[in-house]
Amino acid sequence: MTQRLVIAVDGPAAAGKGTLARSLAEALGLPYLDTGLLYRATGRRMIDAGHDPATAPAEEFAAGVGMEDLRRTDLRVPEVDRAASLVAAQPAVRRMLVDVQRRFAGAHGAVLDGRDIGTVIFPDAQVKLYITASARTRAERRWEQMATDLNAPDRAAQIAQVEREIAARDAADSARATAPLRPAEDAVHIETDHLDAAAVLAEALRIVALRTR
Ligand code: CDP
Ligand code: CDP
Repeated sequence: MTQRLVIAVDGPAAAGKGTLARSLAEALGLPYLDTGLLYRATGRRMIDAGHDPATAPAEEFAAGVGMEDLRRTDLRVPEVDRAASLVAAQPAVRRMLVDVQRRFAGAHGAVLDGRDIGTVIFPDAQVKLYITASARTRAERRWEQMATDLNAPDRAAQIAQVEREIAARDAADSARATAPLRPAEDAVHIETDHLDAAAVLAEALRIVALRTR
């Protein structure tokens, strides 16, 4: 039997983790889990119930997250970006979500992207990738993903606003006591400022081949 292959993809906001993890999973025939959706769905459920994710305990909302919550189309909006990061700092929420992530890899393996996959969820993952780019590049990418008008006259101001928001979220994610955003010691870093998604995938596949031979 071949050994199960777990690939951890971590890094700051909008670095291209999801794009890479999804295409890696497809190329390797593995299931893919976007773990950020677990925290986003928790934050979403709290907001919908009228609770403030900055102050109220979120554990019961994390416990109630199901597969149908992860398919919601209202998880990638600024208020949920902030709510996800706030609930993700609560240790009880993180504890609640460990098992579902570990079980996802099952007997055959998986690709998971997030912040703590290589450090906490799968410290023994065979392949750990840490995806980065400058805050400006990441803000431009996220803005292009979300923009309704790519020729908006206030384009520069909108990108600057996205950059402030992702910088604030990265700072909070890095500073929290439980499972902070940081590269695992044995992670391979891929700096993507000057790489397109196809080039990042090619580099990741090269690393996977080296680590699994
Ligand atoms: O999952 P994460 O927030 O890290 O980023 P993403 O949603 O996968 O990627 C953000 C945007 O950057 C997407 O529109 C990608 O197409 C784009 N992008 C990328 O993922 N990788 C590159 N090397 C260049 C652009
Ligand atoms: O796509 P983007 O990088 O903007 O965010 P995401 O991966 O969907 O994660 C949203 C938030 O959830 C992050 O800012 C983190 O606070 C939290 N998160 C986490 O703490 N641990 C993970 N494994 C994944 C996400």
